[in-house]
Amino acid sequence: MEFLTSTGQKILFYFIIFSILFYLLMKYLRKKGHEYFSQSYWEGRYGYFTQQMDWYTNFTQLNKDFKIDEIIKENFYSKPHQINILELGCGNSTMSFNLYNLGYKNITAIDFSYNVISQMKKTYENTSINYMQCDFNKLNEYFNKNEFNLIIEKAGLDSIATKDSPEVPEKLISIYEKIYYVLKNNGIVLSMSSKNPNFWKGNVFSKLEERKLFKCIQIKRTTFSTQHNPIQMNLYFYYLKKIE
Ligand SMILES: C[S@@+](CC[C@H](N)C(=O)[O-])C[C@H]1O[C@@H](n2cnc3c(N)ncnc32)[C@H](O)[C@@H]1O
Repeated sequence: MEFLTSTGQKILFYFIIFSILFYLLMKYLRKKGHEYFSQSYWEGRYGYFTQQMDWYTNFTQLNKDFKIDEIIKENFYSKPHQINILELGCGNSTMSFNLYNLGYKNITAIDFSYNVISQMKKTYENTSINYMQCDFNKLNEYFNKNEFNLIIEKAGLDSIATKDSPEVPEKLISIYEKIYYVLKNNGIVLSMSSKNPNFWKGNVFSKLEERKLFKCIQIKRTTFSTQHNPIQMNLYFYYLKKIE
């Protein structure tokens, strides 16, 4: 280019162009993210990746750090093992099976991926866990009002929460409205998410409280690392109660 007379000017020019393109590419990729909210993404993933995998960490650590079994027994002390439990976005996690082994026998676990649900039905055919293909945006179409005592989930709602878009809080609030519908009056929600309390409290829980749907009772944090990523990451535990 004629206006770039010296080599230094040319290097600077190409460096600026490269930086702008790199910035735009990163912005696009961040916005697109993994398509965790898309059913076809998960169908594809569970189609080729059939190995059991628990996101973030396993139930033993969760139960130790967040006292899941204790919270259930405190809330439903008269007959804890008879409560109706619903796990959202179960994937091929062992969460429901671990609860089953602790004595909770009335468990329904849902995921919108047909592939993973058919795998889970086969793996746990000797248990009474009811694995069901269902979109958690449509809970009110699949289940009755006041059907469950406990809704539990790990990384299921993160599929929506990790998308970088302004409509995400409204989508999460709408799912919580459906959770409210299927939960019994003394019902509780135990949710485990990598999204921090500023996000959940500021964008979702404050609105649920304003609308007199849920009250956030407890927030806890633990850290975890994985074989592939030794850096310690945060995992948050959110314990909510239905407002009657
Ligand atoms: C990050 S994985 C977590 C899986 C599992 N809970 C765990 O902890 O390992 C998210 C799961 O949520 C499911 N999912 C995402 N959106 C969903 C929706 N709208 N309805 C039902 N399941 C959904 C995905 O198919 C996937 O199995």
